Amino acid sequence: MLSIFAKGGDVGSATVIPVHAVLPKGLERFLAERGSAEARWLKSVGFAGKEGELVLVPNGNGDVGSVAIGLGAGRDPHALALCAERLPAGFYALGDIPEGFGGMRAAYAWAIGTYAFDRYRSRKKSSRADGPRLVLPDGIDGEAVSRIADGVFLARDLINTPSNDMGPAELEQAARLLAERFGARIKVTQGDALLEANYPMIHAVGRASVRAPRLVDFTWGQDTHPKVTLVGKGVCFDTGGLDLKNASGMATMKKDMGGAACVLGLAQMIMDAKLPVRLRVMVPAVENSVSGSAYRPGDVLASRKGLFVEIGNTDAEGRLVLADALADADVENPDLMFCLATLTGAARAATGMELPPFFTDDETLASDLMHHGTEENDPVWRLPLWRGYESTVDSQIADINNAPDYPLAGAITAALFLNRFISQTQAWAHFDIPAWTDRPKPGRRKGAEANAIRAMFAVITARYAKQ
Ligand code: BES
Ligand code: MN
Ligand code: ZN
Repeated sequence: MLSIFAKGGDVGSATVIPVHAVLPKGLERFLAERGSAEARWLKSVGFAGKEGELVLVPNGNGDVGSVAIGLGAGRDPHALALCAERLPAGFYALGDIPEGFGGMRAAYAWAIGTYAFDRYRSRKKSSRADGPRLVLPDGIDGEAVSRIADGVFLARDLINTPSNDMGPAELEQAARLLAERFGARIKVTQGDALLEANYPMIHAVGRASVRAPRLVDFTWGQDTHPKVTLVGKGVCFDTGGLDLKNASGMATMKKDMGGAACVLGLAQMIMDAKLPVRLRVMVPAVENSVSGSAYRPGDVLASRKGLFVEIGNTDAEGRLVLADALADADVENPDLMFCLATLTGAARAATGMELPPFFTDDETLASDLMHHGTEENDPVWRLPLWRGYESTVDSQIADINNAPDYPLAGAITAALFLNRFISQTQAWAHFDIPAWTDRPKPGRRKGAEANAIRAMFAVITARYAKQ
């Protein structure tokens, strides 16, 4: 369990400070229910329940007696992350909290408020190990909340790490550490061995880099359990290849392994929770680089599935490495497969950075994902795998083209491309995630974000956990 959480017994003789959260519309009632000194203080500092307001209220001895935090319009279920970011050390407990902001949500918010990426700060100013601690409310499972936060933190750390320290080898190493920790069986196919083992597109995309491409593949759990497979795009840096990206397009491309990072974070949650599933994780890890050996626009690649793929643009590399991994994953007929990738700019244009789209033909899976995404405040939105655009991935000279010359609906046409490489998986969904926050909020600093994995974890838990 995260050390920021305390149980009743940990507190000893220390005082526990109540934290109240206030919507402007509930302000009057809230103030009326406070003691007179507390209410006077809140009025005199002008507390109005606005978003981002955090007021420490002294008691008669001059110690912090209580805390009031404003929720504003109430749009952010994780607003209480501000407590972990700003409060002084001490023990705190939830006091008067409006519905929808307490319990597991409050505990998770408190956890993500402690996240900071300080690997490259010589002075680790951000460590909150000795910061404010939340005394868990009755019935809240601190282990479960910590497990989810730890999975998110793992993914964020991997994404935030710059490409010079997070190449294909380092991404493999992260997967190895995870596999070893939980006794998973891992297999890595690297460099020219990718050709012998028939992963031609992973090899083609990654071969221009001095850092060898590879496919990381691990399995965990009993073979008799339902098969859940996670595939994540591990492009450790995306220059665009020969169809080179411009400077602003390349600026954040360290995050192009965000799908892989999220898959590892989710795998950690599943294995730590000992869910009765047979988990398989596949990460094609490559650097989309430029050199004399780079694959070219106009090339035609063979693929694991047997389809020939014409390269319309070397910057549409994610779908190529994923296609070889998906074709392999598909063969064992998984019960459920999730694919995560920072796949298209078009997905960002469609739904922005805070609402990743997903694609599936499975109606039940779609509604389960929407439901749990909302419930967990990890929102996702279904876009159509619309067959009317199938012809955009046709090629003049091969079976399929990786970059449609149709300039619209790019997130959909990318999903249709991936779909061509799957034929027997029982249910699958592909998520086109940003893996990035550009408008900071409490608990969500600018930089890496682990999208959709809390929603997926909730779906997997609801389906497969022993009741
Ligand atoms: N990794 C990018 C997509 C991306 C860009 C994700 C910006 C998040 C933010 C991907 O490899 C890519 O370059 N896609 C191209 C595809 C196009 C060439 C068909 C794109 O979206 O422009
Ligand atoms: Mn690209
Ligand atoms: Zn990419």
